[in-house]
Amino acid sequence: ALSTFRSICGEDGVSLATAVREQHGKDESVHRCRPPDVVVFPRCVEEVSALAKVCHDNRLPMIPFGTGTGLEGGVGAVKGGVCFSLRKMNQILDFHQEDFDVTVEPGVTRKALNAYLRDTGLWFPVDPGADASLCGMAASSASGTNAVRYGTMRENVINLEVVLADGTIIHTAGKGRRPRKTSAGYNLTNLFVGSEGTLGIITKATLRLYGIPEATVSAVCSFPSVQAAVNSTVQILQAGVAIARIEFLDDVMINACNMFSSLSYPVTPTLFLEFHGSEQSLAEQVNTTEEITQANGGSDFQWARDAETRKRLWKARHDAWYAAQALRPGCKAYSTDVCVPISQLPQIIVETKTDLIENKLTGPIAGHVGDGNFHCLMVVDPNDPEELRRVHLFSERLARRALAMNGTCTGEHGVGLGKRALLYEEMGSMTMQVMQGIKDTLDPNNLMNPGKVLLPREPQSEK
Ligand SMILES: Cc1cc2nc3c(=O)[nH]c(=O)nc-3n(C[C@H](O)[C@H](O)[C@H](O)COP(=O)(O)OP(=O)(O)OC[C@H]3O[C@@H](n4cnc5c(N)ncnc54)[C@H](O)[C@@H]3O)c2cc1C
Ligand SMILES: *[C@@H]1O[C@H](CO)[C@@H](O)[C@H](O)[C@H]1NC(C)=O
Ligand SMILES: *[C@@H]1O[C@H](CO)[C@@H](O)[C@H](O)[C@H]1NC(C)=O
Ligand SMILES: *[C@@H]1O[C@H](CO)[C@@H](O)[C@H](O)[C@H]1NC(C)=O
Ligand SMILES: *[C@@H]1O[C@H](CO)[C@@H](O)[C@H](O)[C@H]1NC(C)=O
Repeated sequence: ALSTFRSICGEDGVSLATAVREQHGKDESVHRCRPPDVVVFPRCVEEVSALAKVCHDNRLPMIPFGTGTGLEGGVGAVKGGVCFSLRKMNQILDFHQEDFDVTVEPGVTRKALNAYLRDTGLWFPVDPGADASLCGMAASSASGTNAVRYGTMRENVINLEVVLADGTIIHTAGKGRRPRKTSAGYNLTNLFVGSEGTLGIITKATLRLYGIPEATVSAVCSFPSVQAAVNSTVQILQAGVAIARIEFLDDVMINACNMFSSLSYPVTPTLFLEFHGSEQSLAEQVNTTEEITQANGGSDFQWARDAETRKRLWKARHDAWYAAQALRPGCKAYSTDVCVPISQLPQIIVETKTDLIENKLTGPIAGHVGDGNFHCLMVVDPNDPEELRRVHLFSERLARRALAMNGTCTGEHGVGLGKRALLYEEMGSMTMQVMQGIKDTLDPNNLMNPGKVLLPREPQSEK
């Protein structure tokens, strides 16, 4: 197969080097590195398709690789095989300014897209913090801080070009199609969003764009309790304020951010807020929000009006991961990720903080609370199996707490390796049989990112 790979994507498009394989065998999670046997660097969809055909004929596993910023072990080659690194496919195609859409290749990152759009008055708002590839974000159904206003990847992908396990190229909404709405047939686009490389390789994504807001202000507000901060969030949404970002940081998290990013916010439960709109609508949104936060005992807003201060504020939020790690030098952050109906948020956060304290675990909480989604950034010594085990049990308890509240075991990081058993608990056996049936139809030989999302099948057993 190797010589065929080289004839398809060139000598320098195929690597067996240990360093290259190791770099492609892990993401940002604590799952250990599982290097693929070979890494290929295709330059276009035809090469992806030709490579996939060779893999298919030789029954070689295929693992798509975006930028490796995933948090659930999605890119590890648990069965060896061929990693498809898509970074050479980095063209931005078919930008339609008047239609608010653009098509990107899989090597384009969200920051690269927004840099390209800078002077057009448009932007792509989905923002997981990391500078991830947009097709990797589609593959993991990512979201982040702006989702409360603009939606997640699910709401913002219009069409996908996908190479299936046997090399077939399909367009999930029909080639070149990009209507704002459709009721034509099954939604295959949505099927591939969140499929984590287990159904095919996404080689193009057509995305929705938005007008850059006329004005933006950010503010920080401190609260006497978790409950007061979350109650405020619920009430702000109930009041119909189209808030762009509403991020919760607990006392441990804000303390870590203060130290890491040289800030001096009070060490209490905190909301970072951002408003987008015209000057007039901003004044209204801010007024309503301040009345609500004040009624809940929140502090006066600390404003970040100019672009520089705002940038510093959101950088601090995005650096929360590194701030958490800095709490215990030499340790690794491991992010949990659950999402519940928003009315259940106060209860689950309060219970989770009690659990953390009782089990003597370091786990600052940061949440996209407007969506009912939050993370405990567990800081753990990767060389201490006993601590790793306690963290693992904690995160299982957390996920089960979310499931008991009719939430999900993952709001945005995906299932990957770590949450496969929880997915079965969340969905139930009949739903999982349907998912397995879809997998069998699209990838009968289980070559696409095997071992992820679905548990290996137990022969003859209906789980
Ligand atoms: C500091 C930090 C903060 C983060 N915060 C957030 C957050 O707030 N919200 C959030 O949602 N995520 C967050 N993440 C996680 C991560 O950024 C997202 O999961 C992102 O979508 C992964 O994109 P990627 O290109 O790096 O994918 P990778 O890590 O390369 O891959 C992820 C999965 O998608 C598959 N895949 C990748 N590209 C393709 C493709 N073209 N076709 C098919 N399958 C593919 C891979 O096989 C793998 O299973 C954070 C990560 C870090 C490090
Ligand atoms: C189909 O799914 C995509 C991706 O999740 C979504 O953006 C789109 O709105 C869906 N279309 C319909 C008609 O529901
Ligand atoms: C939060 O809201 C709940 C229900 O609306 C209420 O019972 C509780 O007293 C509130 N807590 C605080 C601290 O505001
Ligand atoms: C909001 O606007 C009303 C009416 O203009 C005003 O009375 C009130 O003080 C404002 N509230 C805040 C918190 O600024
Ligand atoms: C979860 O949903 C089920 C079925 O609708 C319902 O009976 C149950 O009360 C819900 N649980 C919670 C905590 O909302």
